[in-house]
Amino acid sequence: MGFQFHTILCTLLYSVTFLKFSVGVGTLSPNQTIINGQTLISQSQIFELGFFSPGASRNRFLGIWYKSTSDVVVWVANRNNPITVSGVDVILSLARNGTLVISTPGSIIWSQNSSGVPSSSNPVLQLLDTGNLVVSDRTGDSSPESYIWQSFDYPSDTRLPGMHMVDNPDTGQEKYLTSWRNPDDPSPGDFIYKIENQGLPELVILRGDMKRYRTGPWNGIYLSGSPPKNQAFQSTAVFEKDILTSILESYNSSTIARVTMDPSGLVQRYSMNERRDKWNLVYTIPRDPCDNYAQCGPYGVCSVDKEPICECLKGFAPGGQLDWDWSGGCTRIRPLNCKNGDGFLEVKGVKFPDMLKFWLNTSMTLGECRGECLKNCNCTEYANPYITDGGRGCLMWFGDLIDIREIQGADSRQVIYIRLPVSELESDNNLEEKKKKKPRRLTLILAAAGVLVSCLIFSVMLVISWLLWKENKAMELMDACMNDTCVESQVKRCIQVGLLCVQKFAEKRPVMSSVLFMLANEEAFLPEPEEPGYFTETSSSNAEDHISTSEDSKKGSMTVSDLEAR
Ligand SMILES: *[C@@H]1O[C@H](CO)[C@@H](O)[C@H](O)[C@H]1NC(C)=O
Ligand SMILES: *[C@@H]1O[C@H](CO)[C@@H](O)[C@H](O)[C@H]1NC(C)=O
Ligand SMILES: *[C@@H]1O[C@H](CO)[C@@H](O)[C@H](O)[C@H]1NC(C)=O
Ligand SMILES: *[C@@H]1O[C@H](CO)[C@@H](O)[C@H](O)[C@H]1NC(C)=O
Ligand SMILES: *[C@@H]1O[C@H](CO)[C@@H](O)[C@H](O)[C@H]1NC(C)=O
Ligand SMILES: *[C@@H]1O[C@H](CO)[C@@H](O)[C@H](O)[C@H]1NC(C)=O
Repeated sequence: MGFQFHTILCTLLYSVTFLKFSVGVGTLSPNQTIINGQTLISQSQIFELGFFSPGASRNRFLGIWYKSTSDVVVWVANRNNPITVSGVDVILSLARNGTLVISTPGSIIWSQNSSGVPSSSNPVLQLLDTGNLVVSDRTGDSSPESYIWQSFDYPSDTRLPGMHMVDNPDTGQEKYLTSWRNPDDPSPGDFIYKIENQGLPELVILRGDMKRYRTGPWNGIYLSGSPPKNQAFQSTAVFEKDILTSILESYNSSTIARVTMDPSGLVQRYSMNERRDKWNLVYTIPRDPCDNYAQCGPYGVCSVDKEPICECLKGFAPGGQLDWDWSGGCTRIRPLNCKNGDGFLEVKGVKFPDMLKFWLNTSMTLGECRGECLKNCNCTEYANPYITDGGRGCLMWFGDLIDIREIQGADSRQVIYIRLPVSELESDNNLEEKKKKKPRRLTLILAAAGVLVSCLIFSVMLVISWLLWKENKAMELMDACMNDTCVESQVKRCIQVGLLCVQKFAEKRPVMSSVLFMLANEEAFLPEPEEPGYFTETSSSNAEDHISTSEDSKKGSMTVSDLEAR
């Protein structure tokens, strides 16, 4: 009995000493184990490996967490194989052949293959200060290339500096983040954050098969939808044969940071404070509503600083329904005229639309690209995919253009060219031309009312019309005169077109061809007119509104010069 006790005590003491040893150097050898309650700690006391139960769950998992904030788990070994029975001994051991094994008495819960290890190897498990758990050969060299196995090859929901995200179409290798199911369950959840290599690489958040967010494709310098702001944690992109195979943030021992795909679908970056007891949120993606995939539907452009955030590309109008939620996006005001001439609208500073159907050549010039796009009636847009070398390559889109957003601080070299019928483009002439044309325009509008004679009178009563229009009383004008001779909708339409022509901001006024089109087609969408130019100048309260931002005051001064030109 005494002897037995002595043996047990010795074993215990031995275990404790031995555990301390193993903890101290952060390594585990084949003759050692980690049981429930014991942990392995990295050399500089940053990371800790052991068994844990997440949140309210009673299931046990082997995981890696920060020693100073143990609730932040960065990796889970057996996320698909929870230890559900409680009150049993759970053991992590390293087999002599280098395989990592989690077992309970009588059964193996989880084991990790080590590829191509000679069975006579002398493996050792080590938790590094990067958070990488590695099996290497004690007798061999300890460079990352010679690791027998490493947890960084099997990301859970967290990317740590030094860990690659990979999508290599050549080898089929993929490494990406998968969210936990919920805070109590580390099994793979709904959301994935990964590199997608379809022609031009980008990063996407997926929910199942559905895209939730995309960074925009690589433009030769950065991911086009998210210009680099903070150089401190800029990721390094690794290319093989023009294909982005991997993204990596280099490890810097003086900063502790992580990127996590959380169960609700947010990718969040955190960094630890200097006292190493608190996490600061650095950024979240999606950043804003405009980051939500296809927020404004086809041909819609999303701008966070506008109200509403969605508007149609020039030449497009909201599609159909009155209770419009933008998911239907926009449709062309006038159809393309491929045979007799289309042109292109230049749009700067937006995220490239999603490449649903595309054609890519990385060496063509912009001119060649335009030519190719014009030749193919299905081509809806073209652009230089790369902004380097003054713009390089040809990317053509076919079909609907989806997920376009304005980007603050966008690179002016990033330009897309959207196909429009030439008639639509006429209204996109430069400002000088617009100014010259303007006096003529009003006359022509009046002439267009040759189309609808009864409207002529109203065109000269525009200021009064505006007031009534604002109050939704446009028809009172009509009551006053030719009650019986006009169709109400036509008169209303005519007034609306007239008001559009004398809007304060010249660039918003329609060109002649549009005016005729609007008058001739009752179905055509008419924008809501804004106040006429003459009107504001007398309204002091509005004038104040217009100098509140530099952007608006610029427009304001433009209006003044317009008036002078007349
Ligand atoms: C455990 O294995 C390591 C490496 O194989 C060896 O250095 C150490 O002496 C062993 N410890 C015991 C208690 O056998
Ligand atoms: C390695 O050893 C473990 C435990 O002995 C065993 O279960 C596993 O099959 C072995 N793996 C290989 C590849 O030999
Ligand atoms: C694990 O090892 C087994 C047996 O050697 C092998 O059949 C299996 O493909 C391996 N799995 C992986 C993921 O390497
Ligand atoms: C590591 O981070 C610190 C603090 O952010 C910075 O001053 C230092 O330059 C970085 N070192 C490297 C090699 O990037
Ligand atoms: C890309 O365009 C260039 C120039 O027109 C041409 O020489 C080359 O063959 C094209 N490459 C592909 C893959 O189409
Ligand atoms: C354009 O698209 C239509 C329908 O998808 C297809 O039938 C046609 O062949 C395409 N034309 C060209 C020039 O690609």
